[in-house]
Amino acid sequence: MNLKDEFIKYFVEHGHVEIPSAPLIPENDPTVLFNTAGMQPLIPYLLGEPHPKGKRLCDAQKCVRLTDLDDIGDKTHHTFFEMLGNWSLGDYFKKESIGYSFEFLTKVLNIPIKRLAVTVFAGNDEIPRDELSASIWQELGIPKERIAYLGVEDNFWIAGESGPCGGDTEIFYFRSDDEIPTKFDPKDDRWVEIWNNVFMEFNKDESGKITELAKKNVDTGMGLERVVAVLEGVNDNYKTSIWKEILTSIEKVSGKPYEGNEISMRIIADHIRTSVFISADPAGIKPSNTDQGYILRRLIRRAIRHAKKLGIDTSTNWMEPIALEVIKKYENYYTEIKENKEVVLDVLKNESIKFNRTLEKGLREFDKVVSHLQGNTIDKDNAFKLYDTYGFPIELTEEMAKEQNLKVDTKGFEEKFLAHQELSRTASKGKFKGGLMGHSEIETKYHTATHLLNAALKVVIGPDVHQKGSNINESRMRFDFSCDHKLSEEEKKQVEDLVNTWIKEDLPVTMEVMKKEDAIKSGAEAMFIEKYADMVNVYKIGEVSKEICGGPHVEHTGLLGHFKITKEEASSAGVRRIKAILE
Ligand code: SER
Repeated sequence: MNLKDEFIKYFVEHGHVEIPSAPLIPENDPTVLFNTAGMQPLIPYLLGEPHPKGKRLCDAQKCVRLTDLDDIGDKTHHTFFEMLGNWSLGDYFKKESIGYSFEFLTKVLNIPIKRLAVTVFAGNDEIPRDELSASIWQELGIPKERIAYLGVEDNFWIAGESGPCGGDTEIFYFRSDDEIPTKFDPKDDRWVEIWNNVFMEFNKDESGKITELAKKNVDTGMGLERVVAVLEGVNDNYKTSIWKEILTSIEKVSGKPYEGNEISMRIIADHIRTSVFISADPAGIKPSNTDQGYILRRLIRRAIRHAKKLGIDTSTNWMEPIALEVIKKYENYYTEIKENKEVVLDVLKNESIKFNRTLEKGLREFDKVVSHLQGNTIDKDNAFKLYDTYGFPIELTEEMAKEQNLKVDTKGFEEKFLAHQELSRTASKGKFKGGLMGHSEIETKYHTATHLLNAALKVVIGPDVHQKGSNINESRMRFDFSCDHKLSEEEKKQVEDLVNTWIKEDLPVTMEVMKKEDAIKSGAEAMFIEKYADMVNVYKIGEVSKEICGGPHVEHTGLLGHFKITKEEASSAGVRRIKAILE
C-alpha cells in the first residue's frame, strides 16, 4: 500500500481537491528559509482569502525542518520530510475532521482502535477546554482513559510567532510489542504522534493579541515517514520501504553493511535526499555561505565527512548513484526533481569537488588542533581557520569536537565571522534579512531598483515577463522572472540603459493605499496576489512602474546611482535570474 496515494484518494473521495506541493523555498516570504508545514503556503487562505480550488484541499507538502539537524543519525529524525494534510477553509470543523481522521486510520489503514490514543486542548484563560473534540472521539470509540488534555505548549498550534492558530487534537499510535497500557500517558514514548488536527479559529497578531477568524478552518498534518514506519512495523524509520534503495546504494558505494554503520549511513541518506530537494527547487539555490545556500553546503559537507568515515573515496563522484536513487524515488510525484536532475547532480558534484580539495588537509589540521589542545575547548581562531581555509562549516567542527568530548568557542567564532563582514550565521538558522525585510539605506535603494528592473524587462522582453522572486542584501539585488530564453547581450544592455535613464530622470516614488481589487484593476503588478491583505500599498514610480508592495522605497529614483547587471543566468525551467548592483 502506498500511504501517499491512499491519503489523497481518501480525501478526494470526501470532496477535497488535491493541490500540488508548494516549493520547498517560500517564493516571497523572506522570514523563513523553508516550508516547515503543509499549512505554511496556505496561510493567506487560512486567514480568509478564497482559495481558487475551493474549501476542501489535500496534498503532500515538501518540508524541511532544521531544528532537528543535530539529531539526524537517530532512528526517527529527518531534515526533509513529506507532510500529508487535509484542510477545511471555513467548511467542515471538528466533528467531520475527527471523523475523517478516525475513518482513514481505522478503515483505510486498518489500524486497530486499541493502538490509538489522542490529546485534546485543555484550554487556558482565553480559550475554553475542548470538550467537544473529546466527546467526538469518545463517540467514535476512543475510551476516556485514552484521551489526555494538554495545555498550550502541547496542544495549541501556530507557525512561528503570529498568524492563524488554534487548539489541536493529536493522534498517537502505540508503537511497541509491549502490552498496551489502558491509560494513555503522552509522555510514554512508546506512544508516537502520527497526526495533528488543528482547529484554526484564531489569528494572533504581532502584538500577541488573539482574535477570532471570520471563518473557522481545519489544518491537519501527518508525517509520512513516521506513519509508513508504523504501517510497516519497524522501529527505525530508515528501515522502511522509503529508504530501502537509497540505503542499498550507500551500502554498495561504501562496501559496508547498514548494520553497524547506521549513524553515518542515516546522515548520508538524509542529507543527500534533502540536498536533492533543495537544489531541485525552483528557487535555484546553490551552495553558498548564506541562507538556504549555507544549509545546502552544510548538508553536503557533513555527508561528505561521514562518507569519509565509512571509507568511501570522496574524490570520486560517489554521491551520484545515491542521488539517482533519490531522484528515481520521487521524480514522478515531484516533477521538478526530474526537470532539474542535471542541476542537482552538478550541485552535488561541484560542491563535493570543492570540499574534497581541502577536506584531507582540514582533517589533519583538526587533529593537530586537538593534539595541541589545552583544556577542552577549540578556540575561535582555530575554528575560524577551519572554516575560512578548509571550508569546514562551524557545525561540522562542533560535531567533530563533540565526538571527542570537546567543545568549540562558537560564540567567539561568530564574533570573528561577523568581523569578517559576512552575514550572521545565526541568520541562517531561522530567519534571514533580505527581500522585504531589509531596511538599510542601500537595501531600500535595491528595493526600488527591483521595480525599475521589472518594468524595464517588460519593455525590452515583453509584457509577459513576471517577477518570480527576489532577494536583496547589502551588496546586490537578485531578481527572478519568467522568460523562456537567455537574454542576449543587447537585451541586457537595453534593460540596463532603460533603468539608468529612469534613474537619471529622477522620477518620484509615490505610495497609495488601495483596495486590492482596485489595485489589480488599475494594472498594478503583483507577484502573489493571494498573499496580500484586502488593503494594499501600491507604489508608483513616475509613469513607468506600478506594483503592489510592502516597501520600503526611496523617494525619488535619482538617489539610486548607476545600475549594472552583473549576471544573467537560468534559475529554473522558464525562469531567468538577474543579479545586479548599484554603483
Ligand atoms: N500545522 C500542523 C502541523 O504542522 C498541522 O498541519 O503539525
